[in-house]
Amino acid sequence: MKKKLIAGNWKMNGSLAANEALVRAVVAGLPQAACKVAVCVPAPYLAQVQALCQGSALELGAQDVSRHEQGAFTGEVSAAMLADFGVRYAIVGHSERRQYHGETDELVAAKAQAALARGITPIACVGETLAEREAGQTEDVVRRQLAAVIDANRSRLGEIVVAYEPVWAIGTGRTATPEQAQQVHAALRAQLAAATPQPERIAILYGGSMNAANAASLLAQPDIDGGLIGGASLKAADFLQIIAAAG
Ligand code: 13P
Repeated sequence: MKKKLIAGNWKMNGSLAANEALVRAVVAGLPQAACKVAVCVPAPYLAQVQALCQGSALELGAQDVSRHEQGAFTGEVSAAMLADFGVRYAIVGHSERRQYHGETDELVAAKAQAALARGITPIACVGETLAEREAGQTEDVVRRQLAAVIDANRSRLGEIVVAYEPVWAIGTGRTATPEQAQQVHAALRAQLAAATPQPERIAILYGGSMNAANAASLLAQPDIDGGLIGGASLKAADFLQIIAAAG
């Protein structure tokens, strides 16, 4: 069985002092972890967290990456720059990027491609809004979002990670039920199966109000291969409990 992946998404949270305390506590609790663990941190803290992760099993991730390789793109961070700091994962297409920064399916797919070109695993996020769910469009929406990533990355599909994050569950305390999540994960797996010979190699994470209390039941679903954790990844004890549930 492949190892599960638990990735923390700190979003725009942290400080030098808070990061140090958090990462030290997570690293201290990691040795028993049977799953893969990463933290996706704000870009200015990559160097700090890289140093704190040194010699541990904790891997480093970024929350975004530019589609461009280099040049006149003020404010952007390239995949090569992330690779310079030992970054293993880059979230692409988080719903907060889609919603607040107008990121399109096409841009998200290009960002995944840029990450892969530098040996960084993209964590490609898909997910429906509450209005879309209520209109019965959930599977159409996530399939459309994933299709763009598949089309642009067909030859390297086995190297990506997908994250299903229903927008209505993010930061709301209202998590998808294990059955709701599994249903969408199964649909995503079927879509991957049509595009790659080993769809089971691709980890499909669940994200959206995952916490110490609900992690085990979500992670027990056959097509849920890990979690993308927001709020609960900022508290070492909670994050470690989720990691333990994945073991
Ligand atoms: P929460 O765990 O805070 O709901 O956030 C989920 C998320 O957006 C992870 O990327």
